[in-house]
Amino acid sequence: MITLSSKDIKELCSSFSVDEHEAFVLLQHVLGTPYSSLVLSKEIKISKEQLFAFKSKLKMRFDHVPVAKIVGHKAFYNHDFITNEYTLDPRPETELIVDLVVKYFPNKTDTLSILDLGCGTGCIGLSILDLYPNAKLLLADISTDALTVAQKNAIRLKIDKRCNCVKSDWFSNINAKFNIIVCNPPYVAENYNLDFDTSHDPKIALFGGKDGLDAYRNILPEVHKFLVPNGLLFLEIGINQCDNICAIESRLKVVEIAKDLQGIERTIVFKVKN
Ligand SMILES: C[S@@+](CC[C@H](N)C(=O)[O-])C[C@H]1O[C@@H](n2cnc3c(N)ncnc32)[C@H](O)[C@@H]1O
Repeated sequence: MITLSSKDIKELCSSFSVDEHEAFVLLQHVLGTPYSSLVLSKEIKISKEQLFAFKSKLKMRFDHVPVAKIVGHKAFYNHDFITNEYTLDPRPETELIVDLVVKYFPNKTDTLSILDLGCGTGCIGLSILDLYPNAKLLLADISTDALTVAQKNAIRLKIDKRCNCVKSDWFSNINAKFNIIVCNPPYVAENYNLDFDTSHDPKIALFGGKDGLDAYRNILPEVHKFLVPNGLLFLEIGINQCDNICAIESRLKVVEIAKDLQGIERTIVFKVKN
């Protein structure tokens, strides 16, 4: 066994240019020891093989592989979600959708039907489903690999009995109406230069055509067919896209435009006009 002191960890972080918090997440993954006890330990016992594995993960991070892609999971709202090369790593700003659903549907015992369109890991829909014990969820994505991940996450959260998965090109395979539709579509314009970390997410989860708005032009004209009366659509948007997106479909009325913690317009709540 080798002993790593706090000073050794700091030195490893600086030689691989990795932030200390991220290094502890990687170490937690290698050792299976809780993060908090690693951070508080003055000395950490580690085998030669584990040290090798830790260093190879630090090297991956040095090469800009996101921590979530290295360890295979990421925290979102109240839970940790499996993620892989086929799914977008859940983003903190997307948690706003869950908060807005709770704001507009305050009764947790409601019997709601929810659609997560372009579900990826399922982080949005499953976080909501977990809060509403009488709700049902349909997870939809064009990627069967993403749906496999979403299904695993549902099982991990022990709420898989209340959810179904469907492969669908937006609404093409959806045949029901919902109280809640949540959607975080790909919205990056095709010529946009991604930072190194984002470039590890699947292209289909990121790019929305020339101006980033292709998915909105597909989804919004269909929404009125898939919401029950008083149903709501919670739609994530990219920076400076709000006005163009609100202008796409005249049958929908904007209920709220919510900003994220950075003050960026991030989620539009729509309802169908009466
Ligand atoms: C930005 S990611 C969002 C994933 C997840 N909902 C989240 O917020 O982390 C967009 C998702 O839309 C899916 N997608 C892209 N084009 C689609 C289409 N035509 N029909 C259905 N889903 C699509 C992608 O596979 C991806 O999972």
